[in-house]
Amino acid sequence: MDYKIYIAKKLNIEGLDAESISSFIEIPPETTMGDYALPCFKLAKIMRRPPVVIAETLANGFTTDEVIKECSALNGYLNFKINRENFALTTLEEVLTLNENFGSSNIGEGKTICIDYSSINIAKPFHIGHLSTTVIGSALCKIFRFLGYKVVGINHLGDYGTQFGKLIVAYKLWSSEEAVKQGRLKELTRIYVKFHEEAKSNPSLDDEARRYFTLIENGDEESNKLFNLFKQITLEEVDKIYKMLNVSFDSYAGESFYNDKMSPIVAELNEKGLIKKSEGASIVDLEEYGMPPCLILKSDGSTLYATRDIAAAVYRKNTYDFYKCLYVVAYQQNLHFKQFFKVIELMGRSWAKDLEHVAYGMVSLEDGAMSTRTGNVVLLEDVISRTIEKAYNVIEAKNPNIENKEEVAKTVGTGAVIFGALCNSKIKDIVFSYDRVLSFEGETCPYVQYTVARCNSVIKKCGNGGAYTIKDMQKEEYDVISLLGKFKETIVRASEKYEPFFITRYALDLATAFNKFYFDCKIAVEDENVRNFRLAITKATKITLTNALTLLGIGVVEQM
Ligand code: ARG
Repeated sequence: MDYKIYIAKKLNIEGLDAESISSFIEIPPETTMGDYALPCFKLAKIMRRPPVVIAETLANGFTTDEVIKECSALNGYLNFKINRENFALTTLEEVLTLNENFGSSNIGEGKTICIDYSSINIAKPFHIGHLSTTVIGSALCKIFRFLGYKVVGINHLGDYGTQFGKLIVAYKLWSSEEAVKQGRLKELTRIYVKFHEEAKSNPSLDDEARRYFTLIENGDEESNKLFNLFKQITLEEVDKIYKMLNVSFDSYAGESFYNDKMSPIVAELNEKGLIKKSEGASIVDLEEYGMPPCLILKSDGSTLYATRDIAAAVYRKNTYDFYKCLYVVAYQQNLHFKQFFKVIELMGRSWAKDLEHVAYGMVSLEDGAMSTRTGNVVLLEDVISRTIEKAYNVIEAKNPNIENKEEVAKTVGTGAVIFGALCNSKIKDIVFSYDRVLSFEGETCPYVQYTVARCNSVIKKCGNGGAYTIKDMQKEEYDVISLLGKFKETIVRASEKYEPFFITRYALDLATAFNKFYFDCKIAVEDENVRNFRLAITKATKITLTNALTLLGIGVVEQM
């Protein structure tokens, strides 16, 4: 039931269609103020009267009914009260019937969205800096799928560049297949760091590295075998973390995948007269658009990051015919995206407008920064295991008797990491704190998961429940149901703004409302009617919180 449209149609204002009227209708911050409100100053221009008069006139002409029980004018606002009993009954029934599909829709049917996220670099450590892109991208994939879109999750691997030549040189000098298979990413990082130290005093190493990189590019068998070994090891390592975070991809087409797809792009840029020569390099001049030039080819003819991104976008359009192509990448790359989007526009591709950079802020730990060159990084794997370990200790202290403590600690620990990265607007820089994300009180995942566990114990205690009618609804009861009714629009808003944080926020609000209800309204009461109604609220809350967390890639536990 769309109340805004219902009210708009009933108001039937001349010169305005129902859609426009409904877009003016707001939901008051407090349920005691009514359920919907129309600020009449928005109509003043069209109706040519002061808002106070408009509100009075509209209120007088409004006939209440089974759906809208009250309509009154106050200070230029038109306030509506809906039939809350009706609303409560239908909402609870909808949640309980749809269950894990509650909140889903088909608004995205027939549309494909490509989401480029996580996009790790081969042979480099998977560190805390990759947390946001990974969990924001993954949540967006799940959100769009839930809304009926076809989603293509793409890990645009950083698997191209002279650093792979460096790795081969380092491998030959200081490592072996044995050592790499044993030490894995740590070994690759070790020799990469060593290369940079040694190259400071021995620049010929860099020449060697360039030579090997060319060999990779030209399809040399031995070099490619090593390169593929590095790639395989990296992917196996990150896959462990992806599994923990419930993250998956539909494509791992990375930068090197576009090796043979760039020359047609360069040719097209030349044909269209977009290329300029500058000190031997080929560039697209973007001065007119207030940006530095976009580098397409270096003076030695080699391609760049932007060249591969242009080829990738064209390839994605041809392959998936996307409606939108999103890039979940840190704001440090703002300029890069602006530049290559512009180049695609200049190439005459009308779909350039469908490319969007979903930028996010930095994550750091309480104690400082990281850099690959020196090997001083905080591995994401370590952050997750440490959080799980700490979660285990918290559970041990709070509730030592629950079953499968280890499983619970895993769900709580990984959930805390994901939620911790998603509980602010994505553009904000965040400082990750173990104690904060694991706190049971406050804006945290354990708080939401604990609320689900609380629902479970109520359900266990009260049994299956049954039919009920609603009389004298308490404010605390209604507040929970009112939020349940907002789940759908919250997901849609999250998808429109690319903000999983709307869902973390929502989950916290719902958990808080439920806990207030839990403490103020006894659920396991004698009165069967009241008990059944409150039990239905509890079940619906459990479903909705579970669905919200699932959209973020977070699990729930029976007990904690
Ligand atoms: N691998 C890149 C980096 O770590 C991110 C790639 C993002 N995706 C893209 N299509 N440029 O900076």
